[in-house]
Amino acid sequence: MQTIAIANHKGGTGKTATTHNLGAALAREHGQRVLLVDADPQASLTGTCGVQDEMASGETTGGTRFLKQVFSLAEVLGGAKPGQVALKDVVVDLGDNLWICPSDTALSTAEEGLAARLQREYVLKKVLATVAQDFDVCLVDCPPDPGLLTINALTAAQSVLVPAQPTAQDLRGLLLFAESIKSIQAEINPELIFLGILLTFYDARFRHHQAEVEAMAKAGLPVLPVAIGRSVRVAEAAGACQPVFTYARHHPEAEHYLALAQWVAERLALPRKGPAGAVDNQIVG
Ligand SMILES: Nc1ncnc2c1ncn2[C@@H]1O[C@H](COP(=O)(O)OP(=O)(O)OP(=O)(O)O)[C@@H](O)[C@H]1O
Ligand SMILES: [Mg+2]
Repeated sequence: MQTIAIANHKGGTGKTATTHNLGAALAREHGQRVLLVDADPQASLTGTCGVQDEMASGETTGGTRFLKQVFSLAEVLGGAKPGQVALKDVVVDLGDNLWICPSDTALSTAEEGLAARLQREYVLKKVLATVAQDFDVCLVDCPPDPGLLTINALTAAQSVLVPAQPTAQDLRGLLLFAESIKSIQAEINPELIFLGILLTFYDARFRHHQAEVEAMAKAGLPVLPVAIGRSVRVAEAAGACQPVFTYARHHPEAEHYLALAQWVAERLALPRKGPAGAVDNQIVG
């Protein structure tokens, strides 16, 4: 299983939208068995995947999603003491090769407790190792801060993708985040690959956006060849609990997210598979 952290200390840069759309594209278009991990107590990804309502109502949707227990990543990680719930018992099947480990606000308390644990940076890594044979790709949606949940994601991951807006304020934060990645590589996870910066809310017609991209390159920050523009369709799709490429298939941002999945599949040399449904996806009982 290849684990990719989707991270940036800054809020509102499109981390959750990227996790959902990239994960769904790798699952549905590239036939990868994808586990999304919502590592943010805000639980935006959980809601975007339509799981929160199920938690509240206990209903199933279309016979494919079924939340067996009202647990989240919080109970799997545990806090000051190890978690008592197995990750495989928390994972929800979203259909078409896509699964999610949901989050809720309890994750915030769990994160505080983690500080007291020995090996506190390795808790998520150990938990993910229990399902390594069940999935091809794991995407971890990080919270917008440099706390222990983000550090756990960067410790568990083989690579990190950083969605960022092309603004001067974001560049300063990005340089700090790039330093954090270097520290993790130096001290905890030497294998961690910095895939690069995914420009979000990007418009090539704006001179100030072009200037920021040039400034990023000058500062030595790797910028992906694919960028995501601003579109209300992306937000609408999230509200409708769908990736944008099923919500508005031929919209430019749908195509950009599909191009991102193609780039990631090539960059990580993911084994080629047929589209979702062509592989056995009965893995979480
Ligand atoms: N390309 C886009 N165009 C327009 N709106 C977008 C786009 N991407 C994301 N959004 C919207 O912008 C808001 C922030 O996006 P998102 O939640 O993905 O950011 P985030 O980095 O995960 O935020 P946080 O740091 O709070 O976790 C959301 O309402 C989302 O629907
Ligand atoms: Mg988010």
